[in-house]
Amino acid sequence: MRLLVAGGAGFIGSEFVRHTLSSHPDDSVVVLDKLTYAGNLRNLDPVAASSRFRFVHGDICDARTVETLAGEADAIVNFAAESHVDRSLEAPGQFIQTDVYGTFVLLDAARRIGHSRFLQVSTDEVYGDVTEGRSAEGDPLRPRSPYSASKAGGEMMAWAYRESYGVPVITTRGSNTYGPYQYPEKIIPLFITNALDDQPLPIYGDGNAVRDYLYVTDHARGIDTALRLGTPGEDYNIGYGGETNGHEVADLVLGALGKPDSLKQHVRDRLGHDRRYAVDTRKLEGLGWEPDVPLADGIKQTVEWYRQNQEWWRPLKSGEFWEFYSRNYKPLSPPP
Ligand code: NAD
Ligand code: DAU
Repeated sequence: MRLLVAGGAGFIGSEFVRHTLSSHPDDSVVVLDKLTYAGNLRNLDPVAASSRFRFVHGDICDARTVETLAGEADAIVNFAAESHVDRSLEAPGQFIQTDVYGTFVLLDAARRIGHSRFLQVSTDEVYGDVTEGRSAEGDPLRPRSPYSASKAGGEMMAWAYRESYGVPVITTRGSNTYGPYQYPEKIIPLFITNALDDQPLPIYGDGNAVRDYLYVTDHARGIDTALRLGTPGEDYNIGYGGETNGHEVADLVLGALGKPDSLKQHVRDRLGHDRRYAVDTRKLEGLGWEPDVPLADGIKQTVEWYRQNQEWWRPLKSGEFWEFYSRNYKPLSPPP
């Protein structure tokens, strides 16, 4: 397959590109990426010399660029998005632009050109807060943040193109993903890089909100499975099956680094904080995929990667990073 991978210079997209080129020797990949603050060409260093790889710097909202590249591809995989919930709470507009309008631009090119597959990378956050049980693919979407609403909007546009024009759309809904090459604003890389510098680990609210942490290689293999073995018109959940709260994430990171508990710091809670996500992954498992890396092992591997690759993340924690940090993180008010 000749793949067009939008957003392939980001965290999960770059792992998907590395995985595709090493596991599918007949495939080629063109990455289209705008290189926002979260995109990083260095994530693609391991494949940069491959004759089966090409990078194009551009925006998925630019119809002309998308049309040209889509015309050279057999399938499209769309990772491109604004992806951080806290930034969506501060400035939702760019999320709607990229995650909804940008998805539409890719779909519209796919409609005219005709591809074998269009894989839309979505998120378990579209199901909203799940107080009990596990979300199955047929469950209603109840997004509760501007980020998850934008991702749900992108999915709905993809459904519309599937129903109206027969675009062979497959959607994946992955859970919270961690591992090497993740921009250090999400909880696990933020806690690791802060702890390495003996800085506080900011835990939102009571620290009891639960996530299902999924190692990035497991997520990328799940997307690869859905792309190749999934049925157009179907949606697939991807998750590990664990339930871990903010305190436990901090404990795992501090334990792996041998740092003290006193680095934990409670800060103001996220607005509208979803307390729990949990997905039922039996549909994807039916295609032969299963997760491989338990959180305790994945955290150790990730800690080791950030310890050994400080020249990758230190330049990212400067300037705009700290401006956002000081706006987002507020100490809890002292008790009355
Ligand atoms: P990321 O923020 O690390 O990467 C996003 C990439 O998209 C960056 O390289 C960025 O430069 C690029 N991009 C942004 N806007 C663009 C535009 N207009 N045109 C072209 N490129 C653009 O994100 P990630 O964590 O790797 O997530 C990738 C996808 O997976 C997203 O769609 C996200 O919603 C979804 N997802 C993420 C997680 C997670 O836990 N990180 C879990 C489930 C689903
Ligand atoms: O579930 C999939 C989603 O996972 C993806 O769609 C998103 O792109 C990705 O960012 C992630 O969203 P979360 O909101 O779950 O990830 P985040 O790392 O921002 O937060 C994880 C949990 O940790 C959540 O309960 C909020 C809490 N948290 C987060 C940060 C950044 C903290 O306690 N402190 C923090 O500093």
